[in-house]
Amino acid sequence: MGLDQRLRLMKMIMIMVCALLGVTQRSMSWQHNYGEALSKSILFFEGQRSGKLPPTQRMTWRKDSAFEDGFQLDDDRFFDKVDLIGGYYDAGDNVKFNFPMAFSTTMLAWSVIEFGKFMGQDLNHALDAIGWATDYLLKSTNIPGVVFAQVGDPHGDHNCWERPEDMDTPRTTFFVSRENPGSEVSAEIAAALAASSIVFRKYHNVEYSERLLQRAIMVFDFADKYRGSYNDSLGSYVCPFYCDFSGYQDELVWGAAWLLKATNLPNYWNYIKQNIHNVKNFGEFGWDSKDAGINVLVSKLLVNNPASKPFTLNADKFICAVLPESPLISVSYSRGGLLFKSGGSNMQHATAYSFLLMVYAGYLNKANKKIDCGGGVFASSRRLKQVAKSQVDYILGNNPLNMSYMVGYGSKFPKRIHHRASSLPSIDQHPNQIDCKGGSSYFETQNPNPNLLLGAIVGGPNINDEYVDSRADFVHSEPTTYINAPLVGVLAYFKSHPY
Ligand SMILES: *[C@@H]1O[C@H](CO)[C@@H](O)[C@H](O)[C@H]1NC(C)=O
Ligand SMILES: *[C@@H]1O[C@H](CO)[C@@H](O)[C@H](O)[C@H]1NC(C)=O
Repeated sequence: MGLDQRLRLMKMIMIMVCALLGVTQRSMSWQHNYGEALSKSILFFEGQRSGKLPPTQRMTWRKDSAFEDGFQLDDDRFFDKVDLIGGYYDAGDNVKFNFPMAFSTTMLAWSVIEFGKFMGQDLNHALDAIGWATDYLLKSTNIPGVVFAQVGDPHGDHNCWERPEDMDTPRTTFFVSRENPGSEVSAEIAAALAASSIVFRKYHNVEYSERLLQRAIMVFDFADKYRGSYNDSLGSYVCPFYCDFSGYQDELVWGAAWLLKATNLPNYWNYIKQNIHNVKNFGEFGWDSKDAGINVLVSKLLVNNPASKPFTLNADKFICAVLPESPLISVSYSRGGLLFKSGGSNMQHATAYSFLLMVYAGYLNKANKKIDCGGGVFASSRRLKQVAKSQVDYILGNNPLNMSYMVGYGSKFPKRIHHRASSLPSIDQHPNQIDCKGGSSYFETQNPNPNLLLGAIVGGPNINDEYVDSRADFVHSEPTTYINAPLVGVLAYFKSHPY
């Protein structure tokens, strides 16, 4: 064999080894099974279900729970008994916090609107996940002039370590009204209903879509007409849990933007134009602040329309605040490459920001432009997707610990997540009730959780890329619905564009 031949042979062997290891020549990064991650990220929502579970329930270690929610309520001024069965538990606890739940629903719906075409068989599961929320949000807004904001007293709930199936903590029901308004929770519910109406219209459930849209319009009117923060109306039941720090102006504009997208009615466009000056935090996006999401959503809605200019300028600023190489960067990255921002449960930022990067990448493509971040840094559609992919890959295992932060994905993942249902034995194994303090030994044990909450993404590592797999360390080990929801869309995209 000549030298040339030998070199060629060696190169071929290298390529084969790389292929076997799942390493591509181009990026030399581990290739993930994004389809599997997508399926699991949606399955997670079944583990968070409250109420009567359907026969199609796949996460079978969970059982029916909280089937009297709303019924304890008796308020002479407004109503007798209300059916508030259903919806999602927020995180590792058993409270139904409608404000972040609605945001998660909006993000699931946006995921399907942008990337549903890449979901394959998981599209139907994603629609189920949205419908599970919207059925409940319809119940929460069934009485004109009232919006239910929360079920479960968080103080009582957090004092116990109980399975949802066993709960004997107060399922106190909280609502806002004309006299005690809550514009943020109401407008976010309107956004969720409007976004979901677009999904169901597109995917052949026109009647349901119309119901969601009519309700969204009604709830938005209520949110706008009776202005105020649920902070003031509900006090220590919502603060410090999901205190509305950023105010309700952003949710009002966000709700109007989703209604504009769902209806195309000029009054929503006028509303947005008249109120956008209240939306100033161009670099923020999450369950509390919707600002960056508004700018990205409106930019995408009005591609190449001069009227979109102020929104696009602010969306560009958002991107330049996120890209690692940008001189205007305002987030941090760990050495291992994970995006960090202040505020608990860091992974929510990595997933929500990645989602916006992906949507805005689509916008840049359509508008055929790049963003000038200064200092010679131009952000292209391709670059935005790269950064989003780096976050997804980190979450799935490309990180200094070589661990996945999604339960049940890969060979090394969090085993002691801060999650009551996952850490206590299933009713199948332990039919007898485990009461409030009866769960303590399951909380304290070093053993792994007995039930896999498949697809749950936890709060994640610290900024030094370290992770202590501890139930007590809830900031890092607790999953939430709003960590997962934005990633559903991002994973769908990479499922069909893995490189
Ligand atoms: C809600 O309460 C928090 C904490 O007290 C406060 O920082 C925030 O400004 C309040 N938000 C509104 C809209 O009043
Ligand atoms: C992670 O994987 C890399 C590459 O295989 C290896 O060099 C490194 O030692 C691993 N780190 C840990 C903490 O397992």
